[in-house]
Amino acid sequence: MQRTLTGPVELETIVSLAKRRGFVFQSSEIYGGLGSVWDYGPLGVEMKRNVKDAWWRAMVRERDDIVGIDAAILMDPRVWVASGHVAGFTDPLVECDKCHRRFRQDAVPSASGVTEDESPVGPVSALVSGLSGQVAQELRNRLEAHARSLGKRRVTAVDYGDAGDYPPGTVPCPQGDGGFLGEPRQFNLMFKTFMGPVEDDAARIYLRPETAQGIFVNYENVQTTTRRKLPFGVAQIGKSFRNEITPGNFIFRTREFEQMEMEYFCPPDQADRWFDHWVEFSMNFFKRYGIRAANLRTRVHTDDERPHYAKAALDVEYNFSFGWAELETINNRADYDLSNHEKHSGRDLKYFDEETKAKFLPYVVEPAMGADRTMLAILVDAYDEEPGEKESRVVMRLHPDIAPITVAVLPLSRNERLMPTARRVHEAVRPHFNSQFDDTQSIGRRYRRQDEVGTPLCVTVDFDTVEKDQAVTIRDRDTMEQVRVPIDGLVAALRDRLDVIRKRVAG
Ligand code: GAP
Repeated sequence: MQRTLTGPVELETIVSLAKRRGFVFQSSEIYGGLGSVWDYGPLGVEMKRNVKDAWWRAMVRERDDIVGIDAAILMDPRVWVASGHVAGFTDPLVECDKCHRRFRQDAVPSASGVTEDESPVGPVSALVSGLSGQVAQELRNRLEAHARSLGKRRVTAVDYGDAGDYPPGTVPCPQGDGGFLGEPRQFNLMFKTFMGPVEDDAARIYLRPETAQGIFVNYENVQTTTRRKLPFGVAQIGKSFRNEITPGNFIFRTREFEQMEMEYFCPPDQADRWFDHWVEFSMNFFKRYGIRAANLRTRVHTDDERPHYAKAALDVEYNFSFGWAELETINNRADYDLSNHEKHSGRDLKYFDEETKAKFLPYVVEPAMGADRTMLAILVDAYDEEPGEKESRVVMRLHPDIAPITVAVLPLSRNERLMPTARRVHEAVRPHFNSQFDDTQSIGRRYRRQDEVGTPLCVTVDFDTVEKDQAVTIRDRDTMEQVRVPIDGLVAALRDRLDVIRKRVAG
């Protein structure tokens, strides 16, 4: 539907609303907050659950070819050797020799801007400017030692090369603690812990960095117990963990997050076709739940960004205020995972095609969506502000299946003549919709509070309800239109009106 606001909404607006209204809180806030870890409050938990339910409905319940599982977060550590995560799920980082903080190599200042200079300390002076006396002196010493090791009298830009290609030990720590960054090393992003009473290497296990492997190791169990023939898919929703080095942008990139992943097993010659199918499916899913098409795009991965397991990969991206960013990846994983699990487990995972009598490893096409990111994109896209005479009206134009509250029941006031009927109306509505009873402030303020959290419909009980007509008013969040309906027909009327809003939001 048409919005008053145009252009991407700033993240701070959403962060502040999310905190104020109980969608998302910082983890362990009373202790100052745990970095990039978030808790979902009373409205947030309802909304995220709705996002996951919508995905599960579209992926599993509305199709005949996909079943679900719920695998454990903890898995045999050999799974992660087979999947390539132990060796390959890494970021190149440089570590400070004093505070031992680690930084992405591409995020630290490089020396490429230093120009060759004939004055005795020319290039060095450009580097050391802004550093404290002691650190500057230490850096000078290190640079001169480096120059000597190269057989030169002084360090020049030529010695430094391109961005990030600096001599190890000559870039001061960005924390400004007097330490220097060492040589780039590969750091694994998996969280590690120990299973059992002994904390040694043999007891080391990982928190899963993707839910997908829980599906691959259960491929045979699912295929034989459900007697599935190719092509078929297995879907899963659950937590994943990554020790991200540069998390941020609220719930966009966090260290603990939820994924909604589906692995679609098919004959190798069908993989390209299914890849296109899942791209289209995903775009339709986002649009169906209210994200405007103009804010979505697809982007094919370049050769150097494709994950280690993927033959082809494409991101579905959303136009956030901080730029276009990934909501979902669609990968053609070919037989990468099943063949590696065959090798490492010794189990024959090949599929036997009864018609052709061929035995082969299926290919896998994987749509992998983040539940938290999807929720963030939906919130950002739904946010609107309408100018008013006194104050503007903030309204979240959420799809009724995603909004945390579907129907709010509001007695006009706290007058005791209204309460029994208002309670009765709420009891009639409650079994059918996620509803809230609110009798706190003035009716105008309560409408605004419901608009701000995206409640599509409010039902108001007034004195006419009790004294005259046994009817109530239904108010539409977007149009603010009000209609009077008999209590007897209220549930059916609410259903009809929600359908109207569903179409409006998706269109
Ligand atoms: N199994 C394939 C896989 O995990 P991915 O692109 O690494 O692919 C899939 O992750 C989706 O999971 C991403 O598109 C994103 O929505 C979500 N995701 C990944 N890392 C995340 C993080 N640190 N915080 C929040 N969501 C994340």
